Amino acid sequence: MQITIEGLGKTYGKGRRALDGVDLRLDSGMTGLLGANGAGKTTLMRILAGVLRPTAGRVLVGGHDLATSAGRIAVKRMLGYLPQELAVYPDLTAAEFLDYIALLKGIDDRQARRRQVEHLLGQVGLADDANRRAGTFSAGMRRRLGIAQTLLGDPRLIIVDEPTAGLDPQERMRFRALLAGLGGDRTVILSTHILDDVAQSCPRVAVLTAGRLVFAGTTEGLVGAAAGRTFVVDSRVPLGRDDVLVNATAFADGTRVRIVSTGPPPGARPVPPTLEDGYVALLQDGGVTAEVAR
Ligand SMILES: Nc1ncnc2c1ncn2[C@@H]1O[C@H](COP(=O)(O)OP(=O)(O)OP(=O)(O)O)[C@@H](O)[C@H]1O
Ligand SMILES: [Mg+2]
Repeated sequence: MQITIEGLGKTYGKGRRALDGVDLRLDSGMTGLLGANGAGKTTLMRILAGVLRPTAGRVLVGGHDLATSAGRIAVKRMLGYLPQELAVYPDLTAAEFLDYIALLKGIDDRQARRRQVEHLLGQVGLADDANRRAGTFSAGMRRRLGIAQTLLGDPRLIIVDEPTAGLDPQERMRFRALLAGLGGDRTVILSTHILDDVAQSCPRVAVLTAGRLVFAGTTEGLVGAAAGRTFVVDSRVPLGRDDVLVNATAFADGTRVRIVSTGPPPGARPVPPTLEDGYVALLQDGGVTAEVAR
């Protein structure tokens, strides 16, 4: 299923421009959405989910125009959406909550609902907590309940806003495996600050900076933005003004820093780039790369 986004803009209240002229086409498969705090990821996802109206441009989801109420209803039927801040009913148990959402999604058959709820609770590792009230859950458990809620009804369009925020490493791996297993014709859009999630799960990636789309293409392509520009160097070597520090690692014989640089300092050793390096290189270039969507 294809999503076409044309000239999309959103201005909140008196002039806070959250999205500005975003053109993007998404095909089936998984796309990662990256960007700093406030870049506009949640705004874009809420518009795609049909819960927020843009102030400019248009969106077609599988041919349905989100500007029309018929279009929004059609999209709602195929959508699984995990908001960044999902409200759960604290007095409902995990199973009751999912049953209720399944009912809202139009899964009328009680047995079918029960089967799906049980299956999904197992998939997100909450089978043993099915009868506990959601209000007593930890933040990570609530997140997993939210993920289960998103997958009810086997949606063809899945929009998940920071699904792995607050998950422990084991649960994050479980979530990635869960998404990888969905496959098929589904279109999945996932926003995150964890670049590893994108590197491991998303063949394609889009990057927003201050409401503008600065990259859309393959994840490999974004990694490539740092090709020939990623180095490791002893932390005592002074860095140049344009060198960007990606991270620092302490070893027994001293600390080494990883940098993205166009003119590396003496002693710097080139290393193959990761997605993190590519992201840093993109920002260093001010978001100008060959792969920017038209
Ligand atoms: N309801 C709102 N009213 C006014 N401004 C808003 C509203 N929601 C978001 N904004 C502003 O729009 C911009 C984009 O916010 P958005 O939540 O889309 O960013 P984000 O990329 O999801 O950030 P984060 O990584 O922190 O979740 C920010 O400047 C934010 O302050
Ligand atoms: Mg957000």
